[in-house]
Amino acid sequence: MFSLKNKVAVVTGASRGIGQAIAIKMAESGADIALIYAKNEKKANKVKSTIINMGQKAITYQCDVSDFDESKMLIYKIMQDFQTIDILVNNAGIVKDNLLFSMTNEDFNEVIKVNLNGTFNMIHHTYLNFVKKKNGRIINISSILGVCGSKGGANYAASKAGIIGLSKSVAKELAAFGVTCNVIAPGYIRTDMTNGLSDSSKEIFAKEIPLKKFGDADDIAAAAVFLASEESKYVTGEVLKVDGGLLM
Ligand SMILES: NC(=O)c1ccc[n+]([C@@H]2O[C@H](COP(=O)([O-])OP(=O)(O)OC[C@H]3O[C@@H](n4cnc5c(N)ncnc54)[C@H](O)[C@@H]3O)[C@@H](O)[C@H]2O)c1
Repeated sequence: MFSLKNKVAVVTGASRGIGQAIAIKMAESGADIALIYAKNEKKANKVKSTIINMGQKAITYQCDVSDFDESKMLIYKIMQDFQTIDILVNNAGIVKDNLLFSMTNEDFNEVIKVNLNGTFNMIHHTYLNFVKKKNGRIINISSILGVCGSKGGANYAASKAGIIGLSKSVAKELAAFGVTCNVIAPGYIRTDMTNGLSDSSKEIFAKEIPLKKFGDADDIAAAAVFLASEESKYVTGEVLKVDGGLLM
């Protein structure tokens, strides 16, 4: 197992799904965790208790990552509580799917604001800490739909493609300071986000996947732990697909 001993990780969208799995797996690997949640304090506290019971430090913070000033204040508080940040995982994301002709301006902008601006905000407020340390790991959660596009989800695909462009740019800018920035592009993963799909849709999608099933949040968490570890120090600007072979 990769070690994250003595590291501090910030994970957004950490109260459930992929974010929760990443937070818990990073804690299992020895990291202390700043858990960022949008609304569900009860669920976030449950994740916090799980991590504290493992012997790691964990603190929850409520924050809308799409708000530039709120996320600035968030990073300030985390730095006060943990003194440093070693790993930043931008996982928070939303979907508001619709075909183009019925997609509103508001729905387009909101998805971009949370998924893309939220990722930018968190990186913007954290990168100086990484630069000063001459070390750091930034891991951004995109989607294979950001690579191949999405019929009925132009806003989501655009936001996730934007995350890839943003990440490669950050990787280039921060490489000189020993900071890596990578992307994980999940395929279909069993979480609340995909729970809304009908059983028949799930069956149709699964048939298209070479490994013939949806992935688990833990599959994404395992990739995140690798990208956060010392062993990935020569990997940057990469888009790691974790999709059962769907997009080859
Ligand atoms: N589940 C999948 O199949 C799949 C596939 C590809 C990519 N992803 C991506 O993985 C990430 C996690 O998704 P998930 O499947 O766990 O879904 P999820 O809906 O369970 O989790 C999303 C999390 O983001 C948080 N969030 C939303 N808006 C926020 C905001 N403004 N500020 C702070 N937090 C906010 C939510 O509260 C939630 O905890 C998302 O970025 C999603 O786009 C998921």
